[in-house]
Amino acid sequence: MAKGLEERVLGLLRGGKLVRKGDRVLVSVSGGKDSAVAAWVLAKRAGELGIDVGLLHIDLGIPGYSEESRAAVEALRERLDAPLHVHEIEKEWGLALPEIARKLKKAPCHVCGTLKRYYQNVLAKELGYNVLATGHNLDDSVGFIVNNFITGQVKQTHKISPLLPETELTSRKIKPLFWIQGRETEGYATEKGIPFTRCSCPFQKQSPTHVIREAFDRVEELRPGAKKSFVKNVLRALPGKGETTSPSACELCGAPTSGKVCTVCRMKKRLWAGGFQLGQQ
Ligand code: AMP
Ligand code: FES
Ligand code: ZN
Repeated sequence: MAKGLEERVLGLLRGGKLVRKGDRVLVSVSGGKDSAVAAWVLAKRAGELGIDVGLLHIDLGIPGYSEESRAAVEALRERLDAPLHVHEIEKEWGLALPEIARKLKKAPCHVCGTLKRYYQNVLAKELGYNVLATGHNLDDSVGFIVNNFITGQVKQTHKISPLLPETELTSRKIKPLFWIQGRETEGYATEKGIPFTRCSCPFQKQSPTHVIREAFDRVEELRPGAKKSFVKNVLRALPGKGETTSPSACELCGAPTSGKVCTVCRMKKRLWAGGFQLGQQ
């Protein structure tokens, strides 16, 4: 009989050495099903894995969507009895994500991705968690790989891995759902009564990655196991699998960056140059 989701996630957590006894794991939770399931399995099995689990939520201040997401995350925290750290963008910046993006003349999703990565890195370190877990699943990997081949960013592809080791500036990054499909997490979340929201971000548009995922769902129906073997074979074929370069510290805020000044500090500088003071309400 095929193994259940929980057993497969535990197999990867242990077999792939994603977590070790004594780890402090911060699960970055959006309010959606995937990160809720990752948090659920880690927190429910924390005792036998010998780890401590906390939750991180970044409140982006997107009207309608962010309230729903935060309510789902708070309901999850109650069920898991784990500490929840909420970072409110509007409190720090004096502006919510849609206004930041508008003032910077950037796409909201682009700014959002940058801010989420930044606060995940910075807050995991600041709060004393040596591991950062996200809800990325098999469908995310399929979409990422195909998209990289379409856009010519093939070199990015080898970075994809269920585990990126710790560096001086970043916690170990893990993806417990790396081999699990979105359909499976939805089924598991419903079966276990895990709180999550189906509300989707108003800025999320129909993108090529969405279409790729839908197409792969059809391929999977015709040939079960196709997504997994696709990801496995691509990773096998690429040189330098899982390789990472150590980031340097941003000259202004100390956060990890590949340049001298991180993207978030550059965003703040641009907002300031426009006469805007951080923290203004
Ligand atoms: P995304 O970048 O939206 O595809 O999300 C990837 C992962 O980032 C999710 O599986 C979550 O673990 C995490 N994440 C997304 N949105 C948030 C949020 N608002 N707060 C905290 N973590 C998030
Ligand atoms: Fe980030 Fe939609 S969740 S822009
Ligand atoms: Zn910086």
